[in-house]
Amino acid sequence: MSAKTIIITGGAGFIGSHVVRRFVTQYPEYTIVNLDKLTYAGNLANLKDIEAAPNYKFEKGDICDTSFVEQLFEQYKPDAVIHLAAESHVDRSITDPLDFVMTNVVGTVTLLNVAKNAWKGAYDQHRFYHVSTDEVYGTLGEVGMFEETTAYDPHSPYSASKASSDHFVRAYHDTYGMDCVISNCSNNYGSHHFPEKLIPLSINNIKNNKPIPIYGKGENVRDWLFVEDHARAIDVIFHKAATGTTYNIGGHNEWKNIDLIHLLCSVMDKKLGREEGESAKLITYVTDRAGHDLRYAIDATKLKEELGWEPSLQFAEGLERTVDWYLANEEWLNNVTSGAYQQYYENQYKA
Ligand code: NAD
Ligand code: TYD
Repeated sequence: MSAKTIIITGGAGFIGSHVVRRFVTQYPEYTIVNLDKLTYAGNLANLKDIEAAPNYKFEKGDICDTSFVEQLFEQYKPDAVIHLAAESHVDRSITDPLDFVMTNVVGTVTLLNVAKNAWKGAYDQHRFYHVSTDEVYGTLGEVGMFEETTAYDPHSPYSASKASSDHFVRAYHDTYGMDCVISNCSNNYGSHHFPEKLIPLSINNIKNNKPIPIYGKGENVRDWLFVEDHARAIDVIFHKAATGTTYNIGGHNEWKNIDLIHLLCSVMDKKLGREEGESAKLITYVTDRAGHDLRYAIDATKLKEELGWEPSLQFAEGLERTVDWYLANEEWLNNVTSGAYQQYYENQYKA
């Protein structure tokens, strides 16, 4: 796929900002249009370093708003869409599932529909790349890994809404012949991650000497991938994947939550000049998440063998870089944890 103008949705969020940065800097000949509603999770400060680049444009709007999306297609005549905009937090999906149906399902279908009409007659020259999650596959037991052929079995409203959006993307490929590609990635970590998710929330709490809330017994397993490796995988898949294909992306890096938090505490002890073991005293077991998936693990062999992508970073190094970023960007952290975040935190972690 060679593209000139790409609309990236959700580019002000965690992963989206890394994808936008990568495309803006690696491909100065492309025009990158960041379409983002700027919900609580969207933050233009995430893109401060590239906001003045001549090949970068920001457009504030909602992917569910057909006339806005149509007008954007009319204005930019995009060659491709890379779709990341979503409601992304499982705990919020348990409280407000309809928000997830709106953005993740209705928003995705709105984008697909506008693209279908705008690109009619030239689907082979336009690409719709949908960024999805491994959570659509449901949960694993102690062994096994998710492959691209694993049957969908989502359990949370978040994963159900992402599964639904994946089905719609495939339906648009199969029914209308649109060039659609999907990737399903494991848990990401790195800079600019909103501190409602496990790693940045724990970094923030350790820094402020607040309890680190561990759901259940802390035995759930996640497969962690450095966010810049995910952005690189998206770059490779976007440019090289055949139409109608799906790729799993993962770090081969499984951690039980409690073990990960002990490692993080130890890194934070060193960085903050605390005695070894001090931060770990903040670990607090809290009521488990409803429908909590036990284990996720990705088999990314297809991506390695067909397109040559592999994760680049060891977890210890990635985690240390992440902690360094949060400690060096106190203002960013203070900005995103002021206001509405406090209310969210109180509701989510009340006894
Ligand atoms: P995020 O919550 O940090 O960012 C989402 C972005 O989408 C925000 O900038 C937000 O303002 C924007 N947005 C939300 N609703 C919108 C709407 N209606 N219209 C326009 N913009 C809207 O999410 P993230 O963690 O960066 O995840 C990005 C994508 O990657 C999502 O599709 C998610 O399902 C997927 N994903 C995430 C992970 C992970 O570990 N975070 C792993 C695999 C896949
Ligand atoms: P999270 O970062 O929300 O990602 P996901 O649910 O998409 O995997 O959670 C990662 C793991 O950490 C998951 O097993 C839930 C757990 N968790 C906690 O134990 N405490 C917390 O406060 C949060 C937010 C998550």
